[in-house]
Amino acid sequence: MAKKAAKRKYVKLYLRFFKDCIIKDEFIHSYKIHHIGYAVKEIEKAFTPFNLLNYKMESSIIEDPVRNIKILFICNCKTRIELIQVLDDNKKSPIDFLFKKSFSFPGNGIPYHICYSVNNIDRAIENLNKNERFIILQPKSKAPALKERNVAFLLQKDIGIIELLEK
Ligand code: NI
Repeated sequence: MAKKAAKRKYVKLYLRFFKDCIIKDEFIHSYKIHHIGYAVKEIEKAFTPFNLLNYKMESSIIEDPVRNIKILFICNCKTRIELIQVLDDNKKSPIDFLFKKSFSFPGNGIPYHICYSVNNIDRAIENLNKNERFIILQPKSKAPALKERNVAFLLQKDIGIIELLEK
Protein backbone atom coordinates (compact mmCIF):
# COMPACT_ATOMS: atom_id res chain seq x y z
CA MET A 1 0.00 0.00 0.00
CA ALA A 2 2.82 2.35 0.91
CA LYS A 3 4.39 1.73 -2.48
CA LYS A 4 1.14 2.56 -4.29
CA ALA A 5 0.72 5.76 -2.31
CA ALA A 6 4.30 6.77 -3.06
CA LYS A 7 3.72 6.11 -6.74
CA ARG A 8 0.50 8.18 -6.74
CA LYS A 9 2.34 11.02 -5.01
CA TYR A 10 5.15 10.83 -7.56
CA VAL A 11 2.71 10.89 -10.48
CA LYS A 12 0.88 13.85 -8.94
CA LEU A 13 4.16 15.74 -8.48
CA TYR A 14 5.24 14.94 -12.02
CA LEU A 15 1.93 16.13 -13.46
CA ARG A 16 2.19 19.37 -11.50
CA PHE A 17 5.75 19.88 -12.78
CA PHE A 18 4.62 19.14 -16.34
CA LYS A 19 1.69 21.59 -16.05
CA ASP A 20 4.08 24.23 -14.67
CA CYS A 21 6.35 23.80 -17.67
CA ILE A 22 3.45 24.14 -20.10
CA ILE A 23 2.22 27.31 -18.41
CA LYS A 24 5.67 28.88 -18.25
CA ASP A 25 6.50 28.26 -21.88
CA GLU A 26 4.81 25.87 -24.22
CA PHE A 27 8.16 25.30 -25.92
CA ILE A 28 10.19 24.65 -22.76
CA HIS A 29 10.63 20.97 -23.60
CA SER A 30 12.29 21.90 -26.87
CA TYR A 31 15.15 23.81 -25.19
CA LYS A 32 18.38 22.03 -26.10
CA ILE A 33 21.93 22.80 -25.11
CA HIS A 34 23.68 24.26 -28.16
CA HIS A 35 27.07 25.02 -26.62
CA ILE A 36 29.04 25.78 -23.48
CA GLY A 37 30.79 29.15 -23.53
CA TYR A 38 34.36 29.27 -22.20
CA ALA A 39 36.04 32.59 -21.45
CA VAL A 40 39.73 32.15 -22.22
CA LYS A 41 42.77 34.38 -22.32
CA GLU A 42 44.08 32.91 -25.59
CA ILE A 43 41.97 30.88 -27.99
CA GLU A 44 44.92 29.18 -29.72
CA LYS A 45 46.41 28.04 -26.41
CA ALA A 46 43.03 26.87 -25.15
CA PHE A 47 42.40 24.81 -28.28
CA THR A 48 45.45 22.58 -27.72
CA PRO A 49 44.15 20.83 -24.56
CA PHE A 50 40.66 20.61 -26.02
CA ASN A 51 42.18 18.96 -29.08
CA LEU A 52 43.65 16.32 -26.73
CA LEU A 53 40.07 15.81 -25.53
CA ASN A 54 39.14 15.08 -29.16
CA TYR A 55 37.60 18.45 -29.98
CA LYS A 56 37.98 19.68 -33.57
CA MET A 57 37.50 23.17 -34.99
CA GLU A 58 34.06 23.77 -36.44
CA SER A 59 34.93 27.12 -37.94
CA SER A 60 37.75 29.62 -38.14
CA ILE A 61 38.16 32.28 -35.45
CA ILE A 62 35.39 34.85 -35.99
CA GLU A 63 35.63 38.43 -34.77
CA ASP A 64 32.62 40.16 -33.24
CA PRO A 65 33.63 43.84 -32.95
CA VAL A 66 30.25 44.87 -31.51
CA ARG A 67 30.74 42.63 -28.44
CA ASN A 68 34.54 43.13 -28.59
CA ILE A 69 35.30 39.40 -28.59
CA LYS A 70 36.60 36.74 -30.93
CA ILE A 71 35.12 33.28 -31.00
CA LEU A 72 36.02 29.76 -32.05
CA PHE A 73 33.50 26.93 -32.07
CA ILE A 74 34.91 23.45 -31.44
CA CYS A 75 33.10 20.14 -31.22
CA ASN A 76 33.78 16.51 -30.28
CA CYS A 77 30.71 15.37 -32.25
CA LYS A 78 28.66 15.28 -29.03
CA THR A 79 29.32 18.58 -27.27
CA ARG A 80 30.02 21.97 -28.78
CA ILE A 81 32.22 24.49 -26.97
CA GLU A 82 32.61 28.17 -27.73
CA LEU A 83 36.00 29.64 -26.91
CA ILE A 84 35.76 33.38 -26.29
CA GLN A 85 38.66 35.84 -26.09
CA VAL A 86 38.72 39.62 -25.77
CA LEU A 87 39.35 41.32 -29.13
CA ASP A 88 40.63 44.72 -28.00
CA ASP A 89 42.04 44.86 -24.46
CA ASN A 90 41.44 48.62 -24.30
CA LYS A 91 37.68 48.28 -24.72
CA LYS A 92 34.95 46.71 -22.59
CA SER A 93 33.96 43.10 -23.24
CA PRO A 94 31.53 40.59 -21.70
CA ILE A 95 34.41 38.51 -20.31
CA ASP A 96 36.29 41.27 -18.49
CA PHE A 97 35.58 39.46 -15.20
CA LEU A 98 38.32 36.99 -16.13
CA PHE A 99 40.93 39.73 -15.82
CA LYS A 100 39.76 41.24 -12.56
CA LYS A 101 42.19 40.93 -9.67
CA SER A 102 39.34 39.96 -7.35
CA PHE A 103 38.41 37.02 -9.61
CA SER A 104 40.26 33.97 -8.47
CA PHE A 105 40.06 30.75 -10.44
CA PRO A 106 42.87 28.38 -11.36
CA GLY A 107 43.96 28.48 -14.99
CA ASN A 108 43.28 30.82 -17.89
CA GLY A 109 39.84 29.62 -18.90
CA ILE A 110 36.46 29.09 -17.33
CA PRO A 111 33.06 27.91 -18.56
CA TYR A 112 30.69 30.78 -17.84
CA HIS A 113 27.55 30.32 -19.91
CA ILE A 114 25.42 27.55 -21.32
CA CYS A 115 23.55 28.32 -24.52
CA TYR A 116 20.10 26.86 -25.16
CA SER A 117 18.53 26.85 -28.60
CA VAL A 118 14.88 27.90 -28.52
CA ASN A 119 12.10 28.08 -31.08
CA ASN A 120 10.97 31.60 -30.29
CA ILE A 121 13.52 33.82 -28.56
CA ASP A 122 11.09 36.65 -27.74
CA ARG A 123 8.72 34.27 -26.00
CA ALA A 124 11.58 32.54 -24.16
CA ILE A 125 13.01 35.86 -22.93
CA GLU A 126 9.58 37.03 -21.83
CA ASN A 127 8.89 33.83 -19.91
CA LEU A 128 12.27 33.61 -18.21
CA ASN A 129 12.27 37.31 -17.40
CA LYS A 130 8.95 37.08 -15.54
CA ASN A 131 9.27 37.92 -11.83
CA GLU A 132 12.85 39.03 -12.55
CA ARG A 133 14.11 35.51 -12.03
CA PHE A 134 16.23 35.91 -15.14
CA ILE A 135 17.45 39.45 -15.74
CA ILE A 136 18.20 40.49 -19.31
CA LEU A 137 21.94 41.02 -19.46
CA GLN A 138 22.15 41.57 -23.20
CA PRO A 139 18.94 41.94 -25.20
CA LYS A 140 18.24 40.11 -28.44
CA SER A 141 20.86 40.84 -31.11
CA LYS A 142 22.45 39.18 -34.14
CA ALA A 143 25.51 36.96 -33.56
CA PRO A 144 28.08 37.11 -36.39
CA ALA A 145 29.71 33.87 -35.20
CA LEU A 146 26.36 32.06 -35.47
CA LYS A 147 25.36 33.09 -38.99
CA GLU A 148 23.60 36.23 -37.73
CA ARG A 149 21.09 34.24 -35.71
CA ASN A 150 19.43 36.01 -32.78
CA VAL A 151 20.96 35.55 -29.34
CA ALA A 152 20.28 37.03 -25.92
CA PHE A 153 22.00 36.70 -22.54
CA LEU A 154 20.17 36.40 -19.24
CA LEU A 155 21.47 36.39 -15.70
CA GLN A 156 19.93 34.42 -12.88
CA LYS A 157 21.53 35.26 -9.56
CA ASP A 158 21.77 31.67 -8.31
CA ILE A 159 23.03 30.01 -11.49
CA GLY A 160 24.80 32.73 -13.46
CA ILE A 161 24.53 33.42 -17.18
CA ILE A 162 22.54 31.59 -19.83
CA GLU A 163 22.41 32.38 -23.52
CA LEU A 164 19.39 31.84 -25.74
CA LEU A 165 19.84 31.13 -29.43
CA GLU A 166 16.92 31.21 -31.83
CA LYS A 167 16.66 28.08 -33.99
NI1 NI B 1 27.68 31.46 -26.45
